[in-house]
Amino acid sequence: MMFTRHRRLRRTSVMRQLVRETQLSCDDLIYPLFIKEGLKKKQEISSMPGIYQLSMADLLDEVASCLSRGLKSFIIFGIPQHKDPIGSQASDDNGIVQQAIGLIKKHYPEVLLIADTCLCEFTSHGHCGLLDGQTVLNDASLERLVDVALSQARAGADIIAPSNAMDGFVYAIRKALDSSGFEDIPIMSYAVKFASSFYGPFREAAEGAPSFGDRKTYQMDPANRLEALREAQSDEKEGADFLMVKPAMAFLDILRDLRQESKLPLVAYNVSGEYAMIKAAAQKGWINEKAIVLETLLGMKRAGADLIITYFAKDVANYLQE
Ligand code: PBG
Repeated sequence: MMFTRHRRLRRTSVMRQLVRETQLSCDDLIYPLFIKEGLKKKQEISSMPGIYQLSMADLLDEVASCLSRGLKSFIIFGIPQHKDPIGSQASDDNGIVQQAIGLIKKHYPEVLLIADTCLCEFTSHGHCGLLDGQTVLNDASLERLVDVALSQARAGADIIAPSNAMDGFVYAIRKALDSSGFEDIPIMSYAVKFASSFYGPFREAAEGAPSFGDRKTYQMDPANRLEALREAQSDEKEGADFLMVKPAMAFLDILRDLRQESKLPLVAYNVSGEYAMIKAAAQKGWINEKAIVLETLLGMKRAGADLIITYFAKDVANYLQE
């Protein structure tokens, strides 16, 4: 025999399905929702076509339209009417995120709700923690974030997802949840979160851009791989139930590394800038949107992701139904 006939297993569509190694399913997708306090009517985010800031009045319709497509898991971001230096509204039991969780749970108790635990949408300065001058404090921020997480759990969140990138956030939140009767609420840690330019459109959507400086003292340098493994390792030791890599497209190697190092479920966050690039090129007619979206998300799963947080979730649900 002179050579190997790989094409044998590609001969027909059914044959290709038979040997396909990676699948996308609505069960693996998490859809982000942005709820803005005081908003009358939903408003499209200009850099994220098809994604809206929702009002409380729009929220249930949006959830219903997702459920009818088979999407059952959501991550909730809130934009409060009033911001202050400590992000008070983030831990208010009557805050916008808590209200949104309560409303969805009342009508759709079966839905899975993930609360993003951070301060940047709630602070007047747009940083993810408390400040001393221009410095983002670590340990003082942890105390605030614990209050935020507890309030989200009381509101009915199924999973707490700390994205603030302070050191020790998993440890602090796990301890507080356990001592408050929430030992069954898992933590989905934004364990490997890079200081990325791919978050640009999100900062418009969530109105949480830093008013000065950047996030490079708490989010990771995109050049680093070993540091990503250290971040993931410490979060796992501190009690994380899921590990996330964010962004996804430029960091597939990190997903693969974590897949090999950890047995925890892995989450890829297909972030706002990744969504915006594909939507923009598709609107110009330069790419085949459906094919590119499916290829992109499959790549994340092939690299090692079990779950994907993606603004494309509704589009993918439609494709899977076709
Ligand atoms: C909050 C947070 C951010 C994103 C998710 N949670 C923004 C940031 O860290 O600046 C980005 C998500 C996206 O770009 O889609 N800290």
